[in-house]
Amino acid sequence: QTGDRSVGGEYDLVVVANRLPVDFSVRSDGGVDWQRSPGGLVTALEPVMQQADGAWVGWSGAPDLAHEPFDADEMRLVPVTLSQAEIERYYEGFSNDTLWPLYHDVVATPTYHRQWWDAYRRVNQRFADAAAAQAAEGAVVWVHDYQLQLVPKMLRDQRPDLRIGFFDHIPFPPVELFQQLPWRRQIIEGLLGADLLGFQRGGDASNFIRAVRRLTDYTTRGPIVTMTDEDGGPGRHVRAAAFPISIDSTRFDELARTPEVQARAKEIRADLGDPEVVMLGVDRLDYTKGIRHRIKAYGELLQDGRLDVESSTLVQVASPSRENVGAYQELREHVEVLVGHINGEFGELGHSAIHYLHHSYPPEEMAALYLAADVMLVTSLRDGMNLVAKEYVAARSDEQGVLLLSEFTGAADELAPGPVLVNPHDIDGLKDAIVQAAKMDPKEQRRRMRRLRRKVMNDDVAKWSDSFLGVLTAMPRRTSHV
Ligand code: G6P
Repeated sequence: QTGDRSVGGEYDLVVVANRLPVDFSVRSDGGVDWQRSPGGLVTALEPVMQQADGAWVGWSGAPDLAHEPFDADEMRLVPVTLSQAEIERYYEGFSNDTLWPLYHDVVATPTYHRQWWDAYRRVNQRFADAAAAQAAEGAVVWVHDYQLQLVPKMLRDQRPDLRIGFFDHIPFPPVELFQQLPWRRQIIEGLLGADLLGFQRGGDASNFIRAVRRLTDYTTRGPIVTMTDEDGGPGRHVRAAAFPISIDSTRFDELARTPEVQARAKEIRADLGDPEVVMLGVDRLDYTKGIRHRIKAYGELLQDGRLDVESSTLVQVASPSRENVGAYQELREHVEVLVGHINGEFGELGHSAIHYLHHSYPPEEMAALYLAADVMLVTSLRDGMNLVAKEYVAARSDEQGVLLLSEFTGAADELAPGPVLVNPHDIDGLKDAIVQAAKMDPKEQRRRMRRLRRKVMNDDVAKWSDSFLGVLTAMPRRTSHV
């Protein structure tokens, strides 16, 4: 189905994302409660949404949960309902078992299922219809991430008056991998419905432009794609560019300076037995994060005697994620077996080699963990940006601590040369880098951390959304359909 062309809503800025920035819970009487969930995106967009009369279209996170649009924190929240089957096919299936591994350099094997694709299209249409119904004449609509790549075109077909932006939070793969996708052409067309396409890195934007050149007949010039109009002549332009996302740096910096967080950081170190070196990993439990590579390298360093459990320890926070997807279940098994093996082999009473925590924690506890960590290990095999790296830096106003960062993150493009850069596939190189980071003298730590902080404190998430929306709203408004 497509939406009614004649209706428009009253909102001048409409954000469309897979998830709403609230969590729903069903009460025992069958009623529904909601609570804010403080993600990065909502922090960035809240001020603009409040100023601009904004609406946010997204999924509630639960199956079959229908809820009327409602107001929260001066934003209109518009829940989209997904059935259990749609969650399995659109969210767990096509989004997270097809696109996610394909877009992350196929570090896991993508699964291609026609039934999943059908559900993806249907659900994207539902999001597009909901957004079209909320958007005022000439509104700006900002669509987010790989779950919703068909929405820009679906929206433009109904509402050529809108200015449409899309931001891809994850990598965009090289065309040699992207072309595996049986529906590659539809995805490209879907994205080209936007006026402005934002990516994390310049490399992602150029991967997209290469895919357009290889897979369509549209002409491109630098970052600009020229669409064809009704008569086959040159029509509107689509711009693809890098807008690296960030965090609310000031909030993290301030949080980490509070006496409560500082005291908690000391307590964490004491609980760990006050080792000389605390290393920390913080990730969603996802196979793109290189958690196994990191743990393997750490285990070998203990084996080689280059590190020992009395003077060092590794804390690995692995927050539960996408637990119904097979590849995530397998990863959990592998990580837990590996951790158990290393702890059994090298741990001593009172000295665990690895403290493994399969939980997620509130920002206060994260800030304390960052402060307690001498070395932050970010070893992703591929990562759109990696905001943990930026959070660590923002928390370290003491200008101490070492960020060890994979070359395969968007953050590495932005933050080099401050971090110790690693190729996580090179286990010997990774081991040397871990030892280098663990032994780095405080002066060198300060020199590097200052550099990192200049970047992270300056380029925060408000600047990111302002610059994207600034470029989008400066683009000419169109009324034609192509
Ligand atoms: C990545 C994606 C987001 C997603 C998040 C958590 O950061 O870019 O779109 O929301 O992971 O994953 P989940 O599947 O729980 O939404």
